Amino acid sequence: MATTLTVNGTPHTVDLPPDMPLLWVLRDALHLTGTKYGCGVAACGACTVHLDGVAVRSCQTALGDVGTAQVTTIEGLGQPATLHAVQAAWVEHQVAQCGYCQSGQIMQAASLLAENATPTDADIDAAMEGNLCRCGTYPRIRAAIHDAAKRLQEV
Ligand code: FES
Ligand code: FES
Repeated sequence: MATTLTVNGTPHTVDLPPDMPLLWVLRDALHLTGTKYGCGVAACGACTVHLDGVAVRSCQTALGDVGTAQVTTIEGLGQPATLHAVQAAWVEHQVAQCGYCQSGQIMQAASLLAENATPTDADIDAAMEGNLCRCGTYPRIRAAIHDAAKRLQEV
């Protein structure tokens, strides 16, 4: 069944089952491989993308449920010359270790800051608790989110 969805500002029409997880539409059909598969059951956050700016788990979001929502992936959050504040803070704090979880962490953090411009440590821990990092980068994630919050206030 043909479905049109808008990803990173570009409309795409795909002929795929409506119950196909958005994660696989992005990775396999649209070749946007920055969004990662970790668990497939909404338990790790590696697959996090935005629907109209709100973080969702793409492994648990059916293609047929996307509708007219704007999908944003890590590839569309910023560009190399114009990084999103969260991406810039991530670079500054050298957050990534192996990197596998990081696109999901960044998308979750960007969604948090869109809702809460000045999150406390507790706010950050609550918003990020579903995003797991096997490398244990949590202290740098928290520091980078505080940094990104400051950057966004200076814009
Ligand atoms: S792959 Fe979606 S939450 Fe783990
Ligand atoms: S940086 Fe390796 S899993 Fe998070």
